[in-house]
Amino acid sequence: MPAFTASAPGKVILFGEHAVVYGQPAIAVPVMQVRARATITPNIRGNAGAVRILAPEIGLDKMLDELDSAHALAAAIEGVTKHLGATHIPACTLKVSSSIPVASGLGSGAAVSVAVIRALAGYLGKPLPNEQVSTLAYEVEKIHHGSPSGIDNTVVTFARPVYFTRKLPSPSIGRGAGGEGLIETFHIAKPFSIIIADTGISSPTKATVSDVRRGWEVEPKRYERLFAAIGSISRAARQAIESGHPERLGALMNENHALLDEMGVSSPELDRLTGAARNAGALGAKLSGGGRGGNLIVLVEAENAEAIRAALRRAGAVRTILTCVGD
Ligand code: PMV
Repeated sequence: MPAFTASAPGKVILFGEHAVVYGQPAIAVPVMQVRARATITPNIRGNAGAVRILAPEIGLDKMLDELDSAHALAAAIEGVTKHLGATHIPACTLKVSSSIPVASGLGSGAAVSVAVIRALAGYLGKPLPNEQVSTLAYEVEKIHHGSPSGIDNTVVTFARPVYFTRKLPSPSIGRGAGGEGLIETFHIAKPFSIIIADTGISSPTKATVSDVRRGWEVEPKRYERLFAAIGSISRAARQAIESGHPERLGALMNENHALLDEMGVSSPELDRLTGAARNAGALGAKLSGGGRGGNLIVLVEAENAEAIRAALRRAGAVRTILTCVGD
């Protein structure tokens, strides 16, 4: 049996985070500079079912049956074996590595799940179509996030820009619980450059998502106005991208950031870094992902990119990635 390797890129949300959980559209793009990778090597002398899991970056070296069933890697493996009706996994070592920073809004959890699901399905001789890979990764996302919209698993599985609208389940279940997404791909008429800058503060998405839920429960009218305003921004952003006017995204990013701030998911660091980027000549900036830490995104003209990166680092960014969307 040969070794199987699979990978998935990181992702960044351009517009619509949080509001997407409540049925508004969001736009996300893959970030190809960072990736998660899973490699499965058969152990011909091992006993069936003996699966060793190695993830050196997080100091993990355990047998599968020693992992808690709620562990994301165990959940991904179980999801695949159940889906394929496999009774056992031939003895092997699963090695996971990733260059995607964790808990920072770049989709590291989803990318690891997608890489593991693909590698294992291949190892078991039954490669899965992207739709199925994404659905299985969504199930794992629920462990990380509680009530994920499904945008992360979608964009990292398909590795292309997506305009994503969650299909809300029946009102009796409650908005924001469960549901799958309507995935639309769209044309990027003119490529544009963004800087992804890391505050260095790790902020679990689950916490901000549940704080927003609590806010919405207490003040439904106010929050629904914020969600709807963010939905309009995502629609306007899609239009700007498709019609070849990415420079219009700057003002939309600033507006989207202000609305997320009103929702309580910005932070002093995110505000300081978005401010520093704008002062250094960026066209616009906003937090990206769950917020309160993690990453922000900054729209730049290519010729100013290095000066703005330097300004972000001076203001405290621990890492910056310059990426061109639509190339
Ligand atoms: O923090 P991230 O990049 O995983 O993004 C979370 C995006 C939210 O809209 C806040 C939650 C979700 O499930 O869509």
